This record gives sequence, C-alpha cells and structure tokens, in this order.
Amino acid sequence: MVDYKVTDISEHMSFLEMMDVLNEQLINKGEEPVAFDHDCREGICGMCSMYINGEAHGPDRGVTTCQLHMRMFKDGDTITIEPFRAKAFPVIKDLVVDRSSFDRIQHAGGYISVNTSGNTQDANAIPISKYAADEAMDAATCIGCGACVASCKNASAMLFVGAKVSQYALLPQGRIEAVDRVKNMVAQMDLEGFGNCTNTGACEIECPKGISLENIARMNREYLSAHIKD
Ligand code: SF4
Ligand code: FES
Repeated sequence: MVDYKVTDISEHMSFLEMMDVLNEQLINKGEEPVAFDHDCREGICGMCSMYINGEAHGPDRGVTTCQLHMRMFKDGDTITIEPFRAKAFPVIKDLVVDRSSFDRIQHAGGYISVNTSGNTQDANAIPISKYAADEAMDAATCIGCGACVASCKNASAMLFVGAKVSQYALLPQGRIEAVDRVKNMVAQMDLEGFGNCTNTGACEIECPKGISLENIARMNREYLSAHIKD
C-alpha cells in the first residue's frame, strides 16, 4: 500500500477523474502514475474494477467506479483503493487485474449457433413471453466487471456465470444448446479456480447492475437438469 496526497479535487468529479488528477500530479513530480483499467467511463464496459474503502466500486449502490462521484467522500478523507482480489484475477500492475478467465468462461458457452445463410427466421417472429424477455434482458445487463467475485468470501463467479447462462436459457434461441452450455461454462468456471457459492449474497449487493441471485438458482436448475438428461 502506498499513500498519495491529491489536491484540487471537485465534488463533481468522477472517481476516475480524481485518479486522472492524481496521476497528472505524480507525472508532474516525475513519479510513476498509478495503473488502473478504464474504457467507456459510463458504466458499460466493466473495466473500472477497483475495491474502494472495502467495497467493489465503492460506497454508492448500482454504479461502477467510473460513475462514482467524489461527493460521496469528505474533504480530507483517506480513501483505500485496492485491485479486485481473487486467485482467478491475477494482478497485472497496481489496480489492473487480468479478468481473461471471464472471457474463457464466455467462450465455453456464451453464444448461440444461428444459420446466417440468409434464411434465418426473423427474431421478432418467435413468440417470447413478456416475463421471459424481461428476465433475459435483466440477466443480459451483466457487464462482466467481476465485482461479484471480488465481494465474495469464496471468490465465486456464480453470479456472473448465472447471468450468462440465464440470458440464453430463458429464450427459445438459447434452448437448443442449453445442456452443453451450462455444463461447459460451469466446468470452465471451476477450471479457472473460482470458489463455490455459499448463499451469502454479497455479490448481489455489490453488483453495479443489480443482477439477482435468482440467476444462480436458475443456473443450478439448468445444471441439474442437464445432468439428468444425460
Ligand atoms: S454479475 Fe454484476 S458484479 Fe458480477 S460481473 Fe456481472 S455486472 Fe459485474
Ligand atoms: S470504465 Fe466502463 S464501466 Fe467503468
């Protein structure tokens, strides 16, 4: 842990803008800037993974670090910033962690096969209940940030994987490969070294997109039924 003093911070700045000011001040002093991940800066890409004062994405609810404002802190506060910590998220440098384990889980089953020869049925012509469409859309809002893993005492990725499995399991287009999908994604999750879920629920509380624990329950049902079908 290293102590830095940062000045000229407005309450209207985002947390990442505060980090930019800190790094500018460090560079001007000839010191090494603090490495951190970011891209969209509008809560979409899931890159800005920081553990701030003991909480993933900091003290606000339903926001990512890039959407967190400095008005959540008091002038003179000491803010503790750590990388997301998990065996499956090795630290690359400072606050930057390698979350390619999430990509490998997605590669294992986070897709559907569609005939793109030109004869594909129009998706709007496939009847889908309002309930299923809403639930699938909610699951699809997961941005793969990894806050669920960082907040979990077991470093479990089950909220993330539950969201990805649910997003397809709820829609007719996803049913065709549902059995292989859940088996392959769970197998990859275990291979990457993520822990198991013990129903504490910290992941749901810290998730910036409000992904519900119901997605873990749905993944467990999908997993069980996939093995019964074998
Ligand atoms: S489930 Fe929530 S916390 Fe976990 S990766 Fe998705 S958006 Fe981030
Ligand atoms: S920088 Fe993209 S979600 Fe924060």
